[in-house]
Amino acid sequence: MQIRISQTLMFTPEDQNFVAFNYLTKSVFGCTSETMGFLSMLSDWHTKDAAEQLLPTVDKEEMKENIQHLLDATAIVEENSTLSDAENEFERSWGWGIPAAIFHFSLNDKSYLSIEDVQANQTLKIAHTPSPNLHTTNEKYENVIDLDSSLKDNDLLQLMSRRRTIREVNKTPITRKQLSDCLFAGMGITGHTHNNIVQLPLSMTPSGGARNPYEAYVYARNVEGLEPGFYHYSALEHSLGRMPAKDLPNPSDLLAGQYWADDMPCIILLAAMLERSMWKYADANAYRGALIEAGHIGQNIMVAATKHELTACPTAAFCHSALHDCLEISGATQTAVYALCLGSPKKDDSIVMYQ
Ligand SMILES: Cc1cc2nc3c(=O)[nH]c(=O)nc-3n(C[C@H](O)[C@H](O)[C@H](O)COP(=O)(O)O)c2cc1C
Repeated sequence: MQIRISQTLMFTPEDQNFVAFNYLTKSVFGCTSETMGFLSMLSDWHTKDAAEQLLPTVDKEEMKENIQHLLDATAIVEENSTLSDAENEFERSWGWGIPAAIFHFSLNDKSYLSIEDVQANQTLKIAHTPSPNLHTTNEKYENVIDLDSSLKDNDLLQLMSRRRTIREVNKTPITRKQLSDCLFAGMGITGHTHNNIVQLPLSMTPSGGARNPYEAYVYARNVEGLEPGFYHYSALEHSLGRMPAKDLPNPSDLLAGQYWADDMPCIILLAAMLERSMWKYADANAYRGALIEAGHIGQNIMVAATKHELTACPTAAFCHSALHDCLEISGATQTAVYALCLGSPKKDDSIVMYQ
């Protein structure tokens, strides 16, 4: 068996030593300068035997133990292991440098607090730190111009103003037409253009360089005319492809334990195929662009849902590995970004709507 230092480590100083972070595995571990020295000797593949002999002053048994600790911490990796495959895939496909990679990988599969815990934390926090203002006024300006009412006589804005996130829904199924309209509004291809090299798809939402980095999937649980299961939406064909049947998890097992999602009859999942944007843009700012695009698509889906008197609850809190398995996406550059949970909303008396 051959080993070498992991290719996805970063180090920060702490108390005359270092804290190491493997952004692919999210492993964090303390590291002395001696350990760092040893790791630097493993930049090429070594057999375990050869690695054990790199520090001749250290007892062989102790070296064996230390190497095992470093393997467990993913500071070093074994050749042909799942982890070395993931590193190779990362090196081969990731084009946006290390800072964006740290953000991209280390936020996957986070553990989330429950709604109750988040609420309790806010109650504790407000006792010593007031919340920042959630809106501003023009109070400080001498000249303030009142604008005309926008909702009056404007059907589009009235529709948009009715969009709400309502997490309690009725047991009513979603119709195929409702789902179709939501998918088309968010993702449908409505034209194309050309640049100097390729044909570029155009849709109702803007896309950086028209690179169209999103694919949509549907988790149908109670949709008229659709067997429960996962489907891929082809925006080009405006069709749903049934994915091979497998166990159907509770939505909350995919959406970071959010139990309200278990009552939702249908979930649209947006996954970024970042390689489409990366192919054109070497600048990691394109990563920001790709995330912004999920917002555009999500908003259109939500407005279409509102038109059908549905709620489309958005969430970006995922159990990424489980979700990626369901969507059959893998690799360094493919990731679930946003989900819209469709349902017929119950009345929510806590909401005050302005006219
Ligand atoms: C990017 C994004 C992520 C969100 N994630 C969650 C989430 O994980 N869970 C949730 O219950 N709501 C989530 N929401 C919904 C917000 O809580 C909701 O939009 C907010 O309370 C305002 O309500 P409204 O959508 O009715 O205007 C998210 C919204 C956005 C824009």
